[in-house]
Amino acid sequence: MKRKILFSAIAFFCASVAISAQSKKAIYLDNTQPIELRVKDALSRMTLEEKVKLCTAQSKFSSHGVPRLGIPEIWMSDGPHGVRMEILWDSWGHAGWTNDSCTAFPALTCLAASWDPKMSAVYGNAIGEEARYRRKDVLLGPGVNIYRTPLNGRNFEYLGEDPFLASKMVVPYIQGVQQNGVAACVKHYALNNQEKWRGHINVELSDRALYEIYLPAFKAAVVEGKVWSIMGSYNQIRGEYACHNNLTLNKILKGEWKFDGCVITDWGGAHDTKQSAYNGLDIEMGTWTNGFTSNKAFAYNDYFLANPYLKMLKSGEIPVSNVDDKASRILRMIFRTAMNVNKPYGSLASEEHHNVGRKVGEEGIVLLKNTISLLPLNVSKYKTIAVIGENATRKLTEGGGSSELKVKREVSPLQGLTEKFGAAKIKYAMGYASGAVSYDQVLKSKLNADSLRAAAVKLATESDIVIFVGGLNKNTQQDSEGDDRRSLALPFGQNELIAELQKVNKKVVLVMLSGNAYEMPWINQTTTLVQAWYIGSEAGRAIANVLAGEVNPSGKLPFTFPVKLADNSAHSFGAISYPGDSINQVYKDDILVGYRWHDTKKIAPQFPFGYGLSYTTFVYGKATADNKKMTTDGKITVSIPVKNTGTVKGKEIVQLYINDQKSTEMRPEKELKAFDKIELNPGEEKVVSFTIDKTALQFYSDVKKDWVAEAGKFTVLIGASSRDIKAKVDFELQ
Ligand code: BGC
Repeated sequence: MKRKILFSAIAFFCASVAISAQSKKAIYLDNTQPIELRVKDALSRMTLEEKVKLCTAQSKFSSHGVPRLGIPEIWMSDGPHGVRMEILWDSWGHAGWTNDSCTAFPALTCLAASWDPKMSAVYGNAIGEEARYRRKDVLLGPGVNIYRTPLNGRNFEYLGEDPFLASKMVVPYIQGVQQNGVAACVKHYALNNQEKWRGHINVELSDRALYEIYLPAFKAAVVEGKVWSIMGSYNQIRGEYACHNNLTLNKILKGEWKFDGCVITDWGGAHDTKQSAYNGLDIEMGTWTNGFTSNKAFAYNDYFLANPYLKMLKSGEIPVSNVDDKASRILRMIFRTAMNVNKPYGSLASEEHHNVGRKVGEEGIVLLKNTISLLPLNVSKYKTIAVIGENATRKLTEGGGSSELKVKREVSPLQGLTEKFGAAKIKYAMGYASGAVSYDQVLKSKLNADSLRAAAVKLATESDIVIFVGGLNKNTQQDSEGDDRRSLALPFGQNELIAELQKVNKKVVLVMLSGNAYEMPWINQTTTLVQAWYIGSEAGRAIANVLAGEVNPSGKLPFTFPVKLADNSAHSFGAISYPGDSINQVYKDDILVGYRWHDTKKIAPQFPFGYGLSYTTFVYGKATADNKKMTTDGKITVSIPVKNTGTVKGKEIVQLYINDQKSTEMRPEKELKAFDKIELNPGEEKVVSFTIDKTALQFYSDVKKDWVAEAGKFTVLIGASSRDIKAKVDFELQ
């Protein structure tokens, strides 16, 4: 009897322990616990198979969760200037949902041209809200590859040619996105500076070019922006694919920068299981089994980091600690995003978001020429306004590759101008035709080029003023993923058309839409030129507001417009430098990219980096420094008064460049190290101050393999562009 009582007491005790263990919330589910504890806890509950699963895609845009433990899948979407429409599970077809229309924000070249980090912050938040509403955990953007050649098909997705400008602009974008519980995924890491042969080309370059030019924006994204994920690029770097590259992923990203997030492949960017395991990759996303090479449906289990990886882990060929690191990073990202219970709900295609898009567009539009003051348009003077050019009506949010968008609305330039100036005044002629765009081919236009041109010239003859809207579009071999442009020239006979329009009408306003520089054989005959990028949903309104003078243009070029292709650094060293010999490519231009090249080699650009006009004028005063000597751990502050001497309110972007007077290693003629965008009323003056320390003076020494700031004399150059220096101050680093 006694024994019976004892047994039932033990049974009761065990049952109650079991119940309390069950009712006690697992640490990984408890969002009050620190993330690192939750990661450890979740990992300790997972089987080897479950850990491996986390590392690969399960569909075109999602990767596995752990269903048994209630850990959700990760859903991703492109990026970088709108949240892409839903794509089918196992093919690239559009899913055809009816609730996935987004706001198209301006392409990143336009954001960079605003030179306003505050714009980046609102932009990042707005696109983050859209991603969140669409239940995405990872937004595949922003892109920060450096603008090396104007032929690169994807420059429009990036932030220009200068590492400092790109760094300053990328950080608030990331913070804006991530405050919505959505991971930004900065891409394409690294050296994906051209689309031609992007899938295999092997890039060779000096450590100096790597650290000074091509890595700083990625570093800023990681170290300052605290980005939660990063996408490896397709190309190879020093003989190893970028998606599993010991130097860039293990040593630099995870080592030097202490990145604690996930490395995600570009789609199909992994090529080998062992290298994926050891060289820094965490999540393999993809196209078919092996990048683009083998076309098999539902290949996900065959991915390099799926069954082949599991097999090697099971056999002991790869230690379990290897997958533990990857799984921990992925869990960390899941807790920050999909399992973040504090994230807001987001919103989609709201008026507020459209306003953000329009505002960024207005801040990014660059006035390049206005010699006879046609702008702002004095519309009451004109009875008839001819709007000419295919880009006045073409949908530019479609095409371009993975950044294609399905939008709630896209106000074309013609629509925006008609809204602004009234349908009675405006007549439209297409002028030229480019044909249709599909993902990988251009469908030739059926329209007759001669009759289109004749009709446009006739309209221009009969009109008081002409607004030509042209440029590039999202066709392949233009501003589009997967290939590069074939030349710097404008396509579709636009040069001839522009010349003819300028012959028959003295008042021609050129509004060019592109994410890249182009040749301007007509520049001497041109009085009025506006660079208006790809602005997205509100393009027409932003353009109309600037032309009408309701918005005073204040953007400045984030990259150089060369006169001809041969003037660009990448194209100055033969095919091995661009595009490579099809296997290897050597960045022979080294650190002299963009204005660094033009200024050092004294090659006059068509329009320089940092250039842009306003409807008002600014006068710069004398620059002064608070100190003429700087110690290695000290700082100096340089100040300059800037005055609006015109009649309208306007914004000026004041730029600070550094010139090293004497150095043991080559230095560019000047380098951007600070900038500020200020707003001034007519007659108003503000003093702009910049404080710099030795980081603004140093270079990466290939000899010392480290950053070096050499004692000696430096000059601070303050200007309205890289070629319009208004004031100089010398000082000495001791
Ligand atoms: C592009 C990436 C993109 C991915 C998913 C790739 O082809 O290079 O930028 O995020 O596809 O669409």
